[in-house]
Amino acid sequence: MSTTTKSAVIENMYARKSIRKYDTEYKLTKEEISELLTDAMTAPSSSNQQPWRFIVITDEQKKKELRTMAFNQEQVETAPAIIAVLGDTDFHKNARKIHQLSVDAGVMDPEVAEKLTENAETLYSGIPVAARHSVAMYDAGLVSMQLLLAAKDRGLDTVVMGGFNKDEFAKSYNLPENEFPIVLIAIGKGTGPARGTSRLSVEDVVRFV
Ligand SMILES: Cc1cc2nc3c(=O)[nH]c(=O)nc-3n(C[C@H](O)[C@H](O)[C@H](O)COP(=O)(O)O)c2cc1C
Repeated sequence: MSTTTKSAVIENMYARKSIRKYDTEYKLTKEEISELLTDAMTAPSSSNQQPWRFIVITDEQKKKELRTMAFNQEQVETAPAIIAVLGDTDFHKNARKIHQLSVDAGVMDPEVAEKLTENAETLYSGIPVAARHSVAMYDAGLVSMQLLLAAKDRGLDTVVMGGFNKDEFAKSYNLPENEFPIVLIAIGKGTGPARGTSRLSVEDVVRFV
């Protein structure tokens, strides 16, 4: 394993930092944001059920309102787009559709798709909502991380925010019972420096056994 030459992905992982100051003149189009999300959604997920959902907020008035829900965090208003990452505890209801997509794409046999659909429906309908909530939380974290790297790859900056009133958000955006907000992600052209942050060492957090 080479440690001297780093791929673009690894370079981006080191270069990405949470940015909280944004160029308010820089705008992102619906197409650009859709492309970013398409890239991010290559993330793996439990049984490929893709339990993430998104609300993209670019409207200036809506961002202003969201800022107050997010404890007045400046970047909620100044970044051109805020992507609210949601989880869906009813994700397993898409099992058939998801596996059919693989059949249609010619990458899965219909019999395998049928078996995987039955497995997913049985497994996930048989566990408590709280367990599906945990699955959705984990998978939403994976897609969020990919979104940060996809943005960085395009010269864009981001910051993930867990600091917002989730009940107020759910009410304000009329979320159905099965959807819950997880994080807000600000995306745009950063203008400010990142905070200097460090990481624990491998020795601090790993046990090799
Ligand atoms: C789940 C989560 C919630 C976070 N919430 C906030 C937040 O509400 N406001 C904020 O400014 N930064 C927030 N951050 C950013 C972290 O503070 C930041 O990732 C951490 O300090 C490491 O810095 P770096 O991202 O620049 O490497 C959050 C990050 C994560 C992963």
